[in-house]
Amino acid sequence: MGVIARYREHLPITERTPLVDLNEGSTPLVESRNLGPALGLKRLLFKYEGLNPTGSFKDRGMVVAVAKAVEEGAKVLVCASTGNTSASAAAYAARMRMRAIVVIPAGQIALNKLSQALLYGAKVVQIKGNFDAALQTVRELADRYPVALVNSVNPYRIEGQKTAAFEIVDALGDAPDYLVLPVGNAGNITAYWKGFREYHELGRCRILPRMVGAQAEGAAPIVLGHVVEDPRTVATAIKIGNPASWEGATSARDESGGLIEAVSDTEILQAQIALASGEGLFAEPASVAPLALLTRLVRDGRIERDSTTVIVLTGSGLKDPDAALANVEPPVELDGDARTLAKILKL
Ligand code: F0G
Repeated sequence: MGVIARYREHLPITERTPLVDLNEGSTPLVESRNLGPALGLKRLLFKYEGLNPTGSFKDRGMVVAVAKAVEEGAKVLVCASTGNTSASAAAYAARMRMRAIVVIPAGQIALNKLSQALLYGAKVVQIKGNFDAALQTVRELADRYPVALVNSVNPYRIEGQKTAAFEIVDALGDAPDYLVLPVGNAGNITAYWKGFREYHELGRCRILPRMVGAQAEGAAPIVLGHVVEDPRTVATAIKIGNPASWEGATSARDESGGLIEAVSDTEILQAQIALASGEGLFAEPASVAPLALLTRLVRDGRIERDSTTVIVLTGSGLKDPDAALANVEPPVELDGDARTLAKILKL
């Protein structure tokens, strides 16, 4: 069952909306076995969004945006992307036999995300500028031509993405004390906050979480309070200098009593290895920025150890393994039999 079928009554679905799905959503909420206890946290869980059909949380919002686009008679989908949105848009376009046009910053998206968009059959357009310029271009295109813009400025994307908050509450029986997630274009933090508030109003959860956002130091416009003209970070998914949902992010932060802070590329790459080798969970660099931030907050005593925290792992590590590979031991060479191998391994 996809998110439209599962959460239909909470979504802007009518009898005319087609039931699009790739069985997105219903991702596991994995209890930390090692990292949480090592930090001294009572309860740490990972919402493993990398297990969505195209490997990121984007599918939740995309399925609703595409269903509504079909309902409204659109034939062409268009988006700007740092990679994951383009993969998701391309997949659902293929599913619905629509045309997808994706505009990406040349040379700045992970190869596996580009491969997805190409294989799903999207028209991939590379521009010389960054994501912010790509978004500007597609917004202008959508203003003037009959194409459906499926970036998170499309409110249906936010509607679909809020279902992840529902799933967390449905699994835990209440909202967590802290929800920690990466912030790029800021649609996701906006969507989670909307989801938690809606469930709270319906009495499905007793508490509302503090929303904690992680940006990368070289791409931290919300932390700095101004646009970053030339964003830089190893976490290419969140390499964004002028987030479209800036206000949604600051509202989520302020209304929830949360915070948005930046972590360095070094902290991100360390967190990626810590998560993979410490829990058996492989997430892409942007997705581990929250773990890097949480580690700092717990050490500084800014998160109570008896709290329940959920980290959103937004995208699969298989999307972008290159950056991580530089920091792990290469495979050992074996030229010989099992005894030679045992010697090498010091068994
Ligand atoms: N994590 C991953 C893996 C992402 O791909 C993105 C955004 C984010 C976090 C940040 O989410 O933008 O809602 O604040 N990726 C977009 C894209 C920009 O084009 O794929 P956000």
